[in-house]
Amino acid sequence: MRAIRSVLGEDQAAFLVRQRVARLATSDGTGRPHAVPVCYACARASVYIALDEKPKDVPVTRLKRVRNILENPDVALIADRYTEEWNLLAFVMVHGRAELLDPGTEEHTAAVRLLRGKYHQYEAMRIEENPVIAIRPERAASWGALDEPESPVPRVLDTIHGRRSVRRYLQKRVPEDLVERVLEAARWAPSPHGRQPWRFAVITREETKERLARAMGEEWRANLEMDGQSAEIVEKRIQGSRRRLFDAPVLLLICLYLEDLDAYPDAERQRGETTMAVQSVGAAAQNALLVAYDLGLDAGWMCAPLFCPERVVEALGLDPGLVPHALLTLGYADGDPPKRRSRRSLDELVVHRD
Ligand SMILES: Cc1cc2nc3c(=O)[nH]c(=O)nc-3n(C[C@H](O)[C@H](O)[C@H](O)COP(=O)(O)O)c2cc1C
Repeated sequence: MRAIRSVLGEDQAAFLVRQRVARLATSDGTGRPHAVPVCYACARASVYIALDEKPKDVPVTRLKRVRNILENPDVALIADRYTEEWNLLAFVMVHGRAELLDPGTEEHTAAVRLLRGKYHQYEAMRIEENPVIAIRPERAASWGALDEPESPVPRVLDTIHGRRSVRRYLQKRVPEDLVERVLEAARWAPSPHGRQPWRFAVITREETKERLARAMGEEWRANLEMDGQSAEIVEKRIQGSRRRLFDAPVLLLICLYLEDLDAYPDAERQRGETTMAVQSVGAAAQNALLVAYDLGLDAGWMCAPLFCPERVVEALGLDPGLVPHALLTLGYADGDPPKRRSRRSLDELVVHRD
């Protein structure tokens, strides 16, 4: 079996790996062509394609592409990029021989893992029960701007530049499906060992906000008084914080959850483990903030729960294993925020050590 890299150039391989859909062309014994769109994953020596039809509904051996491969294993796979900016058009075509991998074999298991790694939708599908198509590449051809970034100004960078902290909201309801998509973004954050050391509480009702505001307010009042702040200032800040909770249509409380993490005999490594989990809370929060902004919502970040986690757990009746960390407010901004923080230049933030 030749490694894909000995058949494809680096730019071709990189392009093929990054695309999400390709077309698989097969032909029957008489040479009649057949093409279907496919999801695929690339390994060192093969391209894999799942047969995701339910095994009982459609016996996979009746699928035209499968019958064709059994009659004639010569196939072609083409992955392409189309955009209205024609200087960005590109494709990679791989010619090779296809075979069917039977369930239970080592390569089949590895292929299913790869496919599920690339497409999370396969996690909920029993693709391990069907054969997997393996293409062993023999030749490759390509055309166009393989090396160009997918978009010259990445959309996500626009979102990153556009997002801002919002602290006043319109009294406009946030549809539940938008909240769900924000949570979905948080769920896909990177995490140590993939353990997802966070849980989310969604709060929308006034009574719940009241319990939360009271719990956090008491702690904050005590802290501000300890700092020697005047009674007037204390009252003003507490009322400001309360207003933010009631003003936002949706509150998203992000809690640290350490129970699934590795346990070490020494305190130092354990601290490292906890730090990673906290870093991952930040990643989940950022995912949520960016997707909220992309959905036309705005959001803000309140750190108050971090300073009284037990009170918050008690006020909301949460699992005692949760440690509230960040409270995100979600809604539609009531006007643009009055000030936008600038950022330090990259020159101040980055050193190059080539
Ligand atoms: C860990 C963390 C805690 C924060 N806590 C608060 C907070 O308690 N109250 C607040 O108004 N903003 C809070 N923020 C938001 C920052 O003030 C804000 O992100 C920063 O000023 C930059 O402004 P921008 O988000 O509009 O770009 C917090 C941000 C982070 C990352």
